[in-house]
Amino acid sequence: MKFDVKDIKLANRGKERIEWAEREMPVLRLIKARFQKEKPFKGVKMACCLHITTETANLAITLKAGGADVSACASNPLSTQDDVASALVKHYGIPTFAIKGEDNKTYYKHIDAVLANKPQITMDDGADLVSTILSKKRDLLPTIIGGTEETTTGVIRLRAMEKDGVLAYPIVAVNDALTKHLFDNRYGTGQSTIDGIIRATNILLAGKIVVVAGYGWCGRGVAMRAKGMGAQVIVTEIDPMKALEASMDGFEVKTMNQAAKEGDIFVTLTGDINVLDEQHFKVMKSGAVVSNSGHFNCEINIEAMKKLSKSVRRVRDFVEEFALKDGRKIYLLGEGRLINLAAAEGHPASVMDMSFANQALSAEYMVNNHDKLRKRVYSVPEDIDKEIARLKLKAMGITIDKLTKEQEEYLASWQEGT
Ligand code: ADE
Repeated sequence: MKFDVKDIKLANRGKERIEWAEREMPVLRLIKARFQKEKPFKGVKMACCLHITTETANLAITLKAGGADVSACASNPLSTQDDVASALVKHYGIPTFAIKGEDNKTYYKHIDAVLANKPQITMDDGADLVSTILSKKRDLLPTIIGGTEETTTGVIRLRAMEKDGVLAYPIVAVNDALTKHLFDNRYGTGQSTIDGIIRATNILLAGKIVVVAGYGWCGRGVAMRAKGMGAQVIVTEIDPMKALEASMDGFEVKTMNQAAKEGDIFVTLTGDINVLDEQHFKVMKSGAVVSNSGHFNCEINIEAMKKLSKSVRRVRDFVEEFALKDGRKIYLLGEGRLINLAAAEGHPASVMDMSFANQALSAEYMVNNHDKLRKRVYSVPEDIDKEIARLKLKAMGITIDKLTKEQEEYLASWQEGT
C-alpha cells in the first residue's frame, strides 16, 4: 500500500485517539453498523481530501466498512494530525497522504496521490480535488460519478464552477444541511477557534477586545463564545442584515478601519481575501494578535505585514512576531491558516458526528442517484438532514413532542381564524 505520513510509529497513539473520538460519534456509529451489513459502496473508489483528524478517521473507517476503497489526503497543509494519518495506514489499511506542515508542493503531490487511484467519488473540504481534476486531470472525468463538499468556501467555489458551466459532475453540498452548518459552523467553529487561540497564546480572553470579521454561522459562534469568556466583542460585516443581527445580539458593529485601532485579538471568518490589510496593520495596537478561522489563508494579507516589518521571528509554536519598522509588534497565529485546526484539534467529535453523518449518507445518495443528477451542486436531501437530527437527539437522550391529530389538522387548514 502506498502512503506518505510523518512517522508510522505514531500509529498506536493515533488509534487510541480515533477510538476516543468515536465515543462521541453515535450517529456515525449507527451508520457504520448499517454500512457493514449493507455494503452500499462495494467496490466504489473514493478520494477524501479532508482535514486528517480523529473525526475524519472515523468517517473514512465508516466508508470502508461500507465497502469503499478509500484513500485520503489533507485539505489544508497545517491541519493534519500526524498520529491519525499513521493510524489510518497501519491500523485501518487506508492509504493516507498527509503531513502536518507540508509545503504547497507536497500538498498537491498528496492530492495527485489520491487521484492516482482513479476515484469514482470525490469528497472535498474546500473543493481542491474538484478544481485539480478540472484543471489538470480531466482524463479522470469519465469514471467519476459524483462528489460531496464539506465547507462553505468549497460550496461557493463549486457554485461558481456551476455558474460558469464548467462543473463536470454532480456534487452534494454537505455544508447546506441544517445538521451541518447550524452546528458545526456555529458551535464547532465557535469552540475550536477559541481553543486554537488559547492553545497558541495562553492569553486570557476576559477583558480583551476581540474583533470578529464576518457574522456568518462561524463568526456568530466565535463572537458568542468570546463574549461568554468575558471578552468585549466587536463584529465587522459587509452584509446589512448580518450587521443588524450582530448589533441586536449585543455586539458592537464597526468597520474594520475603526475596529483595527481597538482590537487586542482579531479573527477573520469571512471566506474573502485581505480582510485584514495594510491599512489595518498600520493602526493596530502593539501586541495585537491576528488569526484566521476561514478556510483559506488569504484573509490576512501576510505579505503586507511582512512589508511593514523589519523582522519576523517565531516566539511560540504557531505564533510569529512581526516587529514593525515603527517599533510596534503584531503577532500572527498559525501562519494565517485555520487556527482551530492549526493550533488545536478542530471541531469536537460530537459536532463532526453530524457533519460526517451527512457526508456518509450523501455519498450513499450519490451512489444510488448519480444517473438522475446533472452537473450541478445539490443540497443534502431534507429527509437525510431530518433523520440525522432525529438520531442525534436520540443519542443525546432527548425526546420531543409529536403533533396531535387535532394540531395536524389545524396546521393543514386555512378556515380557522380569530
Ligand atoms: N473541520 C473542522 N473541524 C474538523 C475536524 N475535527 N475534523 C475534520 N474536519 C474538521
